[in-house]
Amino acid sequence: MSILRRDFGAMPDGSPVYEYELENRSGLKVSILTLGATLRSIVIKDKTGVERDLLLGFDTVEDYLTRHDYQGVIVGPVANRIAKGELPIGTKTYELVKNEKDKLCLHSNAEYNTANWRALIADADRIEFSYVHPDGANGFPGEIRNTVSYTLTDDGELKIAYHAVSDRDTYLNLTNHAYFNLNGYDGGDVLGHIVRIDSDAITEVDPDSIPTGRLYPVEGTPFDFRAEKPIGRDVNADDPQLLIGGGYDHNFCLRENPDRACREVARVRSAETGINMQVFTDLPGVQFYIGNFLHGQPGKENVPMIKRAGLCLETQFYPDTPHRPEFPSCLFKKGQPFDSETIYRFSVDKENETE
Ligand code: GLA
Repeated sequence: MSILRRDFGAMPDGSPVYEYELENRSGLKVSILTLGATLRSIVIKDKTGVERDLLLGFDTVEDYLTRHDYQGVIVGPVANRIAKGELPIGTKTYELVKNEKDKLCLHSNAEYNTANWRALIADADRIEFSYVHPDGANGFPGEIRNTVSYTLTDDGELKIAYHAVSDRDTYLNLTNHAYFNLNGYDGGDVLGHIVRIDSDAITEVDPDSIPTGRLYPVEGTPFDFRAEKPIGRDVNADDPQLLIGGGYDHNFCLRENPDRACREVARVRSAETGINMQVFTDLPGVQFYIGNFLHGQPGKENVPMIKRAGLCLETQFYPDTPHRPEFPSCLFKKGQPFDSETIYRFSVDKENETE
């Protein structure tokens, strides 16, 4: 295992942005920026030995600050949408920044991903990033101390461990918003990728992608990924929920997990490259988003990020949990830590195994 540090430019205030690279014994390389604690690249040799970088992203700080659709970043303190931009806690309602349609708060107004995090090489295979959310930023209460660590193992696991603690009661729901393309960031769209998600229902949404409170069973719908299938198979089906997201952009409810085990919940593979990715989490949900809003903005090496050039599996508590007491709660008391782990595990099928 080795860890390198490179300069990646500077923030508008002049503070340096660094890129750290972890490499394991089989040559799997992962890099992370201090800006947004952003997972910037995952480079792996495919079934024919060609190196592929599986992550959409950018080459400059400026692009990560201005052109982004949250590529690879840590989102917080509360990922996904909050209705009306209002955060009710006890007898108080906090007014949040309404950064979507002037009426709801999406991804906490990009706060965590536009901050330059502090990095610490915590171990031979682990880097830890920290950031303090100032009380009241974007309307969210509490001074919140966050650490997110990335560990790369020799058997191809990239573990993301989240820790956050607030000095006031507040909602916490951190995630990583990586866009994966198992054919490489320049590999076209992901409609041919084969996906399995261990979920029996999604959270039904209204036209603003806010949960209605009802669950929508996947049985007999395009959302049924319990047996693996290519993303493109049903993506244009005439389903009212699918039309709302313009394609998959929904929270899949994961199965009961009373012991909060970090269990496998999804798997993706590409027959073209033989690359597989398994997803493990201890959280109750995962937002499966297939880049419907990407529109050709230039990414790494100026390769346009075309519609559906990447897929996200954002492990999380359900969207709009603050307004839905029936959902698993992510209200954390003052001093009560949010601790969670998500693992993306990469492997490659040899040529003759993928036929
Ligand atoms: C999320 C949302 C999408 C979209 C992207 C960012 O994951 O669910 O609707 O807003 O972020 O473009």
